[in-house]
Amino acid sequence: MRHFISLLDLSPEELMSLLDRAAELKNEVRQGRYSQSLQGRTLALLFDKSSTRTRVSFEAGMNQLGGYTLFLSPAEAQIGRGEPIEDTARVISSMVDIVAIRTGPHGNIIKFAENSAVPVINALTDFNHPCQLLADMMTVREHFGRTNDINVAYIGDGNNMCHSWMIAAKQFGFDIKIAVPVGFEPEADLLEACQDRVTMTSIPSEAIMDADVVVTDTWISMGQEDEKQQRKQAFEGFTVNEMLMKNASNDAIFLHCLPAYRGYEVTAEVLEGPQSVVWDEAENRLHAQKALIEFLLNEKK
Ligand code: CP
Ligand code: NVA
Repeated sequence: MRHFISLLDLSPEELMSLLDRAAELKNEVRQGRYSQSLQGRTLALLFDKSSTRTRVSFEAGMNQLGGYTLFLSPAEAQIGRGEPIEDTARVISSMVDIVAIRTGPHGNIIKFAENSAVPVINALTDFNHPCQLLADMMTVREHFGRTNDINVAYIGDGNNMCHSWMIAAKQFGFDIKIAVPVGFEPEADLLEACQDRVTMTSIPSEAIMDADVVVTDTWISMGQEDEKQQRKQAFEGFTVNEMLMKNASNDAIFLHCLPAYRGYEVTAEVLEGPQSVVWDEAENRLHAQKALIEFLLNEKK
């Protein structure tokens, strides 16, 4: 049985064939065709945190392929009243075929997976967001025809999205320059593990020079609302605006996992501008995750 807790859980070859399948599934939707590959299958979504894209893409995706989804928030489940993760995992995984979890502490999802009889998908933790990177890589490939041998610039917080891009650089074979304010660096262990692909700076115009792909994320992730003022100050100068974008290569694309906060990490002009592919990127969550669920369920047979 396989889980998808990090991009490292799949080999580079498996990731590429997953992107192939995602493109096929996208094409089927465009033609109004839906295969029924997930008929009779149930996906449980256990979400501790808010979500629009992740929840809707999982629910719509399961529905399109003939499966069923049930959504549980802690307020509704006994886990919110203190039932241990281990017990919850044993019980839920005895009844459904696959589980996707969105939670803060990364350890929660590891603990769940250790006690689960079915595949577990990471739908975001404070450490990483691998489902997002499947969609992001799919979008990159739609534009450049490849996912390797590209220059990526990540401007902003050394957070879960930054970590995910670093791991993607290793798995997909591209180079990434990361610009973060001092004190907001990604985790040191991960940085060391990815050092052959990652360059760090605290100067956004350095990171973005000649980039093919420019990425940012919110300065205030879920759970950091109390730090809003302090973070807004610390990230001054890190807004991806048209002037900064001029340093990227001429055919560069702009990506953002969304939700975006215009005027903070990105200006409205860039987000809505001709280089932005954020809406394709968001749609690709649907296709990439359908391919992921098929893959994990096939591996379990
Ligand atoms: N990008 C992303 O995961 O969005 P949601 O928080 O809306 O799911
Ligand atoms: N870094 C953001 C990503 C949201 C999809 C957060 O964790 O809130």
